Amino acid sequence: MISQRQLFLQHLAQTTHFPLMLEIERAEGIYMYGPDGKPYIDLISGIGVSNVGHRHPRVVEAVKNQLDKYMHLMVYGEFIQSPQVQLAQALSETLPPSLSCCYLVNSGSEAVEGALKLAKRYTGRPNLVSCFQAYHGSSQGALSVCGQESFKQAYRPLLPGIRHIRYGYTEDLHWIDHQTAAVIIETVQGEAGVRIASQHYFAALRQRCDQTGTLLILDEIQAGFGRTGTFWAFEQFNLVPDMLVTAKGMGGGMPIGAFIASPSIMASLRENPILGHITTFGGHPVSAVASLATLRLIREQNLLQEVPHKASLFKQYLQHPAIREIRHQGLMMAVAFDSFEVLKPIIDRALMLGVVTDWFLYCNDAMRIAPPLTITEEEIRKACAILLQAIDEST
Ligand SMILES: Cc1ncc(COP(=O)(O)O)c(C=O)c1O
Repeated sequence: MISQRQLFLQHLAQTTHFPLMLEIERAEGIYMYGPDGKPYIDLISGIGVSNVGHRHPRVVEAVKNQLDKYMHLMVYGEFIQSPQVQLAQALSETLPPSLSCCYLVNSGSEAVEGALKLAKRYTGRPNLVSCFQAYHGSSQGALSVCGQESFKQAYRPLLPGIRHIRYGYTEDLHWIDHQTAAVIIETVQGEAGVRIASQHYFAALRQRCDQTGTLLILDEIQAGFGRTGTFWAFEQFNLVPDMLVTAKGMGGGMPIGAFIASPSIMASLRENPILGHITTFGGHPVSAVASLATLRLIREQNLLQEVPHKASLFKQYLQHPAIREIRHQGLMMAVAFDSFEVLKPIIDRALMLGVVTDWFLYCNDAMRIAPPLTITEEEIRKACAILLQAIDEST
């Protein structure tokens, strides 16, 4: 009989020559289980998605209840669907008053697409500014504002009018001018290997945007929904964006994203042309209830308050001569080693020992750690002990 592995390789598109090929039969909390029952600790939350753990009972219950009512009804924005309405209201309660209107989509890239279009439409300006080493998604618009040429060159021509600046360097902010529709920037750079700009930088960025009438779009697709210890990462930088994009952890394991702005900015999608951005499945009711349950869980269950302590436990346990540095904002962490050659066998060994980690798209000498926020102190201790064993056995 043909194995699942063979079928996987034959019929599912591959994006590398070396897929992980880990077969998972079920998942719960921080654990994923192979067909033989072998447990794996998911220390990356399916890449920043399972912030409340896999199949959190409240998320599962919300999904099941919604399945009994309705699934897809009508393209986004036409029918009044309670899951969407309640989610949008709950999102606005987590945000400053100016960010009260949300457009629900299916993914992070789509949220970025919507936000970039909206910025051009609202300002009537042609240009965009984004950062070197930024990751904003894989569709053509999102790819255009990504900041790593090696991932882009094969797909050119991409969007025109894009200027890249260095993340965290106030010296580069003069590139934002009166022709710039928007600056899109990750509050915490994820795929660059967890890079964090200063509050001073963000204040200068906000000021430059205000001076030039440029919209500031914060990408919290990875950093939002509690990952950094506040519901939104920008809360820690004393900053309010004009637009926010979110996805990943937003759905508690279901696909959903959003771009969020003020009602007056969002209103420009209504005219010249009408239907300025449309989507069939955006804000799917089953995903919307999962997202609402996730949002409530994060806010009600002390998960945010526990993040700094849990992060400090990782730092306390992960001490080893091979570790060069640990960069982190809350539980968005990068554990840096000397090189990819040192790190790769550690990640492979950890996987064999039952802990899933990863490196970053643009930073291959650092280990990604972004566990479910629900991880317990005991689970952190256990995961770190396995990682230290993997380091010892691989260096
Ligand atoms: C900061 C950031 N923006 C955008 C995206 C794209 O999101 P998606 O993969 O859902 O399209 C990602 C995904 O990793 C991300 O980390």
